[in-house]
Amino acid sequence: MDIIFGIFSTTTIYLFLFLSTLLYYHFSKRHHKKHKLTPNLPPGSMGWPYIGETLLLYSKDPNTFFSDKQKRYGDVFKTHILGCPCVMLASPEAARFVLVTNADLFKPTYPKSKEKMIGPSALFFHQGEYHHLVRKLVQSSLSPVAIRRLIPGIEDIAKSMLDSWASREVINTFQAMKKFSFEVGILAIFGHLDKQYKEELKKNYSIVDKGYNSFPTNLPGTPYHKALMARKKLSQILEEIIAERKEKKLLENDLLGHLLNFKNDKGETLNDEQIADNIIGVLFAAQDTTASALTWILKYLHDDPKLLEGVKAEQMEIHLSNEKESRGLTWTQTRNMPLTYKVILESLRMSSIVSFTFREAVVDIEYNGYLIPKGWKVMPLFRNIHHNPEFFNEPQNFDPRRFEVAPKPNTYLPFGTGAHSCPGNELAKLEMLILIHHLVNKLRWEVVGPRDMVAHSPFPVPYNGLPSRFWKEPKKEVQPWKEPEKEELCH
Ligand code: HEM
Repeated sequence: MDIIFGIFSTTTIYLFLFLSTLLYYHFSKRHHKKHKLTPNLPPGSMGWPYIGETLLLYSKDPNTFFSDKQKRYGDVFKTHILGCPCVMLASPEAARFVLVTNADLFKPTYPKSKEKMIGPSALFFHQGEYHHLVRKLVQSSLSPVAIRRLIPGIEDIAKSMLDSWASREVINTFQAMKKFSFEVGILAIFGHLDKQYKEELKKNYSIVDKGYNSFPTNLPGTPYHKALMARKKLSQILEEIIAERKEKKLLENDLLGHLLNFKNDKGETLNDEQIADNIIGVLFAAQDTTASALTWILKYLHDDPKLLEGVKAEQMEIHLSNEKESRGLTWTQTRNMPLTYKVILESLRMSSIVSFTFREAVVDIEYNGYLIPKGWKVMPLFRNIHHNPEFFNEPQNFDPRRFEVAPKPNTYLPFGTGAHSCPGNELAKLEMLILIHHLVNKLRWEVVGPRDMVAHSPFPVPYNGLPSRFWKEPKKEVQPWKEPEKEELCH
């Protein structure tokens, strides 16, 4: 028994040793394999501890910082800026991966100070059900069907603005365009609004605007503190406007109307704070972006007299036909300004006003063999895509004709893409078309001072806001048509 036990135990020991060796190799190989499969972080440099590469970013133009990095490391690279580790993505596929196909794995992310200033219930800070709901309301109030009724109002704003510029005095084009885009924003949000409310909103909004990009120290006297105070005042004004609307039971079709009339199947509505935050949010998203785009358009047209002549000819034809019929611009006419429209598309590509956006990875994610760790910021770089010669031939040249052919999918993203793409893009294009129509028909302008330098405010704007002089185009007598003499016909 002992012997049997002895033989058994010796065999067992050998068997045990054999099996454990086998298992060890098996697991160690698997472990090794698993280790090998764990994706690496993308290439790139993280700079100094804590400050990372923030100083490098600010010592250069941000666009140069990003394009230098792309040249060195490729389309996916890591860096550390503004206190956060980031993965930058400079290819159309990567932008689509983050913003469209895996949008639920990347949440919107903004500094708390900015969230507080705009209002935490504004749609762009959210994702999921609440975002979806508010976005639907904003989108329907800014859809082509909804905005076509705004054309006469936008025309009136454009005409009165242009009249006020035509004094030959040097004006800051960007600031002038901000006034225009603010008024159009108010029109889209409230429809007709009492002058007194409008003035109060304008006054307080401009204080918020000044403090938004200041250092967030909430001490009396600082621009940030003043902006927070003005933001409170804005909420009070909006509450009054909302109360008045509710009292009068007005069922308007503007953005405020859409937000006020919302009721879900459980009978829940949006509260006043949610409505106010989204109104400020939309105003904020609408103003500087559109003003910056218009300022660039004026610069590009000014720099290319032949192109300007082409745009003038296109717009003059529409103007003359409307004058004959004593009517304003029609929706169909705004859809049929091919050259002007291409100038807008190319200006948006060249200037890439929103040159990138931010998201945050909510879990560890693998993209193209690289690890994007949970909590890291992710930045799709729209400008790098718009300036890649693979997608836009000679990208540094302003050439509206390139839009005679549609750009390759996901390469043209001035309004972003996916769940958070711009719901105001049709309104932005409409107001640009209307302003250009009246501008080129009524005024001439001359840019004063340097115009090839760029400032960031935070959107790129030509240096000093493109100081320019405007004056009235001498009215040309439109000659009545007369039959040419026989001789004339021969020529
Ligand atoms: C030329 C003018 C404009 C440009 C270039 C522009 C660009 C953009 C971009 C790139 C985004 C997406 C940002 C992201 O994915 O993080 C965005 C979002 C947004 N834009 Fe615009 N925009 C313009 C004008 C407007 C206007 C006129 C309005 C409203 C009247 C507007 C309202 C919004 C809103 C509310 C969002 C947030 C959408 C969401 O989070 O679901 N934008 N815009």
